[in-house]
Amino acid sequence: MFETVEEVWDRQTLLAAYEVMRRLRIDRFAGVVSAGKEARVYRAIGRRGEEYAVKIYLTVTAEFRKSIQKYLLGDPRFRNVDTSNTKKLFFAWARKEFRNLKRMYEAGVRVPRPYLVYQNIIVMEFIGRGGLRAPTLREAYRELEPGELEELAWEALRQYRRILCCAGLVHADFSEYNLLYLDGKLYVIDVAQAVSLEHPNAEDFLRHDIWNIHRFFAREAGIGLPGPEELLGWVRRCSEEECPGERGRRAQQLVEASQES
Ligand SMILES: Nc1ncnc2c1ncn2[C@@H]1O[C@H](COP(=O)(O)OP(=O)(O)O)[C@@H](O)[C@H]1O
Ligand SMILES: [Mg+2]
Repeated sequence: MFETVEEVWDRQTLLAAYEVMRRLRIDRFAGVVSAGKEARVYRAIGRRGEEYAVKIYLTVTAEFRKSIQKYLLGDPRFRNVDTSNTKKLFFAWARKEFRNLKRMYEAGVRVPRPYLVYQNIIVMEFIGRGGLRAPTLREAYRELEPGELEELAWEALRQYRRILCCAGLVHADFSEYNLLYLDGKLYVIDVAQAVSLEHPNAEDFLRHDIWNIHRFFAREAGIGLPGPEELLGWVRRCSEEECPGERGRRAQQLVEASQES
């Protein structure tokens, strides 16, 4: 059942993984998709052959501690987290990622569908084919035609506008490394550090993200794009048709307020 599971799992994580498997009727873990500094991502298979991506937070790094300061505590949704307890930090971080994912998904952003969060474990839709994960845009872009890359640049900006105007969030780590490419489409991933527009540094994170999109598509991939300042204006031009409902209205008020200041 845990053929591919390594010694990095502690007892509590193992028990949590069993609980996740029970709840979603997952049959087995079928390989490590990615071993990052803090989290590992696994592919898992359900009883009817459905695929899941399972992200498990396992290691506390110095950067992780910094991220907690920078992205968690400033967010009004997570003000009351006890930072002295490492386990609790993990759980809060996983919960934050899941909530961001859910909020983006409900706002119509193309992200993996969120299924469940339990302790330090997040389960979402697996983006890939034939058991293989989709490549990141970083890995895929050299094989793509300039025309397609130009479309993808605007697609990335459109997805960003939804994150901002419809979900009321700023991604805060938006780059070619956190976009998966499948069937000509981009999927936004890695949303743990995304913050609400009410975060005191939301504006800085937003600028940084848009500068990143510009750096990658214009400088690195050589696509003709307006300058970053203009792209920022484009992303902020929210429209009510694109994201109706209460959350959309609220997000758009915040975007407008941030432009005035
Ligand atoms: N839902 C998913 N479907 C398929 N692969 C995924 C999924 N989520 C993450 N991955 C893979 O795992 C890698 C790391 O995931 P990410 O969320 O970016 O974590 P990290 O914090 O380690 O950067 C991604 O680059 C991608 O290759
Ligand atoms: Mg990543």
